[in-house]
Parts: sequence; C-alpha cells; structure tokens
Amino acid sequence: MRETERKAARAYREQFGEDPELVASAPGRVNLIGEHTDYNGGFVLPCAIDRRIAVALGTGGRGGFETRPYQTRLYSADFEETRQLDEKDSSWANYPRGVVWAMGEAGHEIGEFRAAFAGNVPLGSGLSSSAAIEAATALVLNAFFGLGVGRTDLAIICQRAENDYVGVGTGIMDQYASLLCEAGAALLVDCRSLDAQSVPLDLQAAGLALVVCDTRVERGLADTGYNDRRATCERAAKMLGVEELRDATEGDLDLLSGAELMRVRHVISENARVLKAVEALRDGEFDEFGRLMYASHVSLRDDYEVSTPELDTFVEKAEQHGARGARLTGAGFGGCAIALVSEDETDAFTDACERAFGRNGFGKPAFYEFVPAAGAEIAD
Ligand code: GLA
Repeated sequence: MRETERKAARAYREQFGEDPELVASAPGRVNLIGEHTDYNGGFVLPCAIDRRIAVALGTGGRGGFETRPYQTRLYSADFEETRQLDEKDSSWANYPRGVVWAMGEAGHEIGEFRAAFAGNVPLGSGLSSSAAIEAATALVLNAFFGLGVGRTDLAIICQRAENDYVGVGTGIMDQYASLLCEAGAALLVDCRSLDAQSVPLDLQAAGLALVVCDTRVERGLADTGYNDRRATCERAAKMLGVEELRDATEGDLDLLSGAELMRVRHVISENARVLKAVEALRDGEFDEFGRLMYASHVSLRDDYEVSTPELDTFVEKAEQHGARGARLTGAGFGGCAIALVSEDETDAFTDACERAFGRNGFGKPAFYEFVPAAGAEIAD
C-alpha cells in the first residue's frame, strides 16, 4: 500500500472501529498540453502525478457501539472532520456526495457505507485534487457495490458530479486522467469521441525532469472566469454554426471579433498543437515538444487571457534557463505551471524562479518534480 492508502485505512480504523473492507486511491494530474480544449470537443494530453487521494471504505460500526440510525459518513483525515452524506455544504465532502448522487442518476444503487479519506494532492492549486477524490470514490464504490461500471463511464459519472452537483462546468480531462492514465505515459484524449491512448513518456531516458511550480495563487474554479470562458466558447460555436469549437477552422476567424475571436483562435491553434506534440513525443523530439509548450502558453496568455504575472514569470525564467518548454497548466487564473528542464539544472532553475518571485513581490512558490504515475487503483 502507498502511504496515503495506509493513512486512509488507519483513519477508517480509528473512526469506525474496524478494518476497512476496501481501499482505493486516485492521482492528481498535470496537463502537458491542450488547455481549455476539453469542453470544446478537442484534444488534451495530461499525465497522472504521484500525489494521490486515498479512500478506505466499509460498513464499519454496524456492530453495536454505533449510534442509530445508521447513516453514511464521510471522514477526512486531512481536515479531521466527519460529514454526513445527505447534506450539501461547500466542503470537500461535496465531491464524494456528488459522485454518489451521479451514480444514482446513472441508475446505480449505492447502499449505506462509511468512508475515510486521506491525500497529498495540493488542494486548490490546479493539480486536480477534486478529480482525484471523485475518481477514488467512484472506483471504490464501483468495486464495493459490485456495479461493474467501466472506467470511461466512471469518468463521465465523476464529471457529472462536478458539473451538476458541485456546479463547476469542467470538461472531462481531469476525471479521465485520474482514472485512465498509466505509469510512464501521458494520455491523449479525444474529448469528443472519448477515445484515449497512452503515449509513452520516458523523461528520465531523455535526461529531463518535469518541474511543476505551484504559484500558490489559489483559485477555486467556481470563483474564476472558468465558466465565463466556457460560455464564450459556446456562444462563438453558435455564431459559427458549429456543434463545438473542435469543428471551427482558421477561415472561421474572419467571422469573429473581440473576445470570441481570441478564444476561438486559441482553441483552434491549441488542438493542432496537441496533435503535433504527440507526434513529437513519439519521435522523441523534445525540442519540438517544448516549442509547442511555449506556444501554448503565449496563446493562453494573450488569446485566452487566463495567465497571471506569477505564471508568466515562471515561463520567462524557464526560457532564460534554456528549458525545453514551459507553460501554465490547468485552468489558469493562478495555480500551477510546468517546465521541461534538464535533470541536472532543476535546482538552479527553481532557485532562480524563487528569487524572481521574491523580487517581484509575489508569494513564495512551491516546486515539485513528477514522473508520470499510475491512474486510480484498488489497493492490495
Ligand atoms: C480545469 C478543468 C478541465 C479543463 C482545464 C483547462 O482543469 O477541470 O476540465 O477544462 O481546466 O484545460
């Protein structure tokens, strides 16, 4: 078992007085390229990170000492608090609640249970802690109640939880990444057909490290311009008479102006970059891959307007340090950026970034190095 899984199991034992019957965990993700394309029916290329949220589950406490009536309870070891299933608030518990709700909507019967959660995905920083808790919950409930739902459908259930229960109009990328990524690989997802293919990503063999900078500029998706960007895309698709912006072409740009023009230009160019990036990875062309990352950042900064001074500073520093590529990752508006850096340069690079943040009066960033990790798993 991983440390987070042991922690969830321990918390379960302490809270509910017996061993859990199942333990599962699911990872956060970084997106290598393909930003704000998922809800436009386009392409994304995320990989899972070795930070996970674990859940231990059972019917613990039915045995007698428990107060009646028996109710599903959710416990978080990180927040050290218990929440009921059938209340809605604005806490972490809305994610597992949303999954139970969405499973019910999909016709799957979920009985009473007890669950304890523990994790080490940084929260609210764009590494998809919410998808991780949703995916872990969906996978463990699916196994525990013998529902036999496949991973693709579990991801759709998790997205439904996020969209219609939590109320953030995210695309499918994060839930797909958390449930379907494989260790040592990125995942190319066609967000229209929902086909997904693993693309091998052996950074170590190329002498590279994936450095993630958490700018610590917190962003709850519901509070940012995320839903607004999505609405603009939908409006632009209507104006162009296409079902989704995936179908828009460069020729269509002449028909648009203002915000619509800028957002659509990003989506069209970003989709093309993802496909080129996958080719580059398959050919081991990391220079080309990195060039596409930088281009993605410029497009997100200037056309999609979701960057921040912190994210831009990180990318500028990466360029000055000769990183192969760098870009903001996830929704933007704060959160994280990534860079592909030579393995032996990472310390010098992160030190330089930290100094630049200090000089600019920004908060102290956190840095992580990730290798592409496994998707959601039931623990042995
Ligand atoms: C967030 C959403 C994803 C995706 C990205 C932007 O992470 O959850 O669905 O839209 O933003 O690419």
